[in-house]
Amino acid sequence: MVMADDSYYGPYAEFRKRDNFADAFRSVLDDVAGRVDLGWVRSCVAFGTGSGEPDIELVRRLMPGLRSFAAVEPDRESAGVLRANFRKSFPPEVETSVAESRMQSWSGADGRVDAALLLNVLSPITSADRQVLFKKLMTNLSSGGIVVINNNITSVPSGYVLVLKRLGTPRVDFDELEKEMVEAGFGVLLKHDFEVHRDLSNPNDGVVECIRRSANYKYGESETRAVINDVFSDPSMHMAPNRLAIFKKQD
Ligand SMILES: C[S@@+](CC[C@H](N)C(=O)[O-])C[C@H]1O[C@@H](n2cnc3c(N)ncnc32)[C@H](O)[C@@H]1O
Repeated sequence: MVMADDSYYGPYAEFRKRDNFADAFRSVLDDVAGRVDLGWVRSCVAFGTGSGEPDIELVRRLMPGLRSFAAVEPDRESAGVLRANFRKSFPPEVETSVAESRMQSWSGADGRVDAALLLNVLSPITSADRQVLFKKLMTNLSSGGIVVINNNITSVPSGYVLVLKRLGTPRVDFDELEKEMVEAGFGVLLKHDFEVHRDLSNPNDGVVECIRRSANYKYGESETRAVINDVFSDPSMHMAPNRLAIFKKQD
C-alpha cells in the first residue's frame, strides 16, 4: 500500500495512465510551433517538473536552440527519474541541472534566463507565494523573456476539479493566474485551450494516493475513493479543459 510520506512519482504515474494528457499536449505543441518562434530561447528554468516528460517535450519541440535547462523539483524520486530523462533527451552540450527544492525557495537564476516553465504545478501554490514567484521571474528573466503556464480551466465543470472541490481543496482557475501574471508585468503572447480525456473511476491505490495528496490528506482512502467513483460515474465529467499560455515580460 502507498503511504502518505512516499514519493509523488508512482502515484502521479498511475494518475497519468488514466488520461491522454501526453497525446493532447503533443498536438498542442505542434499547433503552437506554427504560431510562435521560440528558436531564440537559450536558457530555461522549469518548476515542478516531476520526472519531466511534458516539460522536456515542450522545450524539444519549441526551443531547439536551448543550451541550458535548470529544473526545480522537490520530490527526490521524480528528480532522479528526471536526471535520467535529461540524459536520454539532450545531447551533452545542453547543460542540465536539478535542484531538489520548492519553487518558494528558488534563489533566482545564475544570470538572466530566457524562459520559465510552470506546467500543471501552480494550483496547490498559494496566491501570495505565486505572486512572489511571478515578481522574482520578472527580475530574473531576460528582456522579452517568456513564461509558459499550463493549468486546468475550472470555470467549466470537470471530474478532477470537482473531486478536489468536494474534498475541500478547490483548484485555482486559469483566469486568476492570468490576472496575477498581468499584475506582475507580463503580457499574454498566446493562449491555447484543449481538452484532456480522464476517467478516474475504479481508482487503484496509486490514483487514490495521488488525489489524497492533492487534497492535503483531508479525507481517508475510502471516502476519497467514494467521491472519485461518484463524480466519474457521470461521463460528462471525463472531459477536462486545459489551457496552455505563453506570457511575455513587458520591458
Ligand atoms: C502535477 S505534477 C506536474 C509534473 C509535470 N510538470 C507535468 O506537467 O506532468 C506537480 C509537480 O510539482 C511538484 N511540486 C509540488 N510542490 C512544489 C513546489 N512548492 N515547488 C516546486 N514543485 C513542486 C511535485 O513534486 C510534482 O512533481
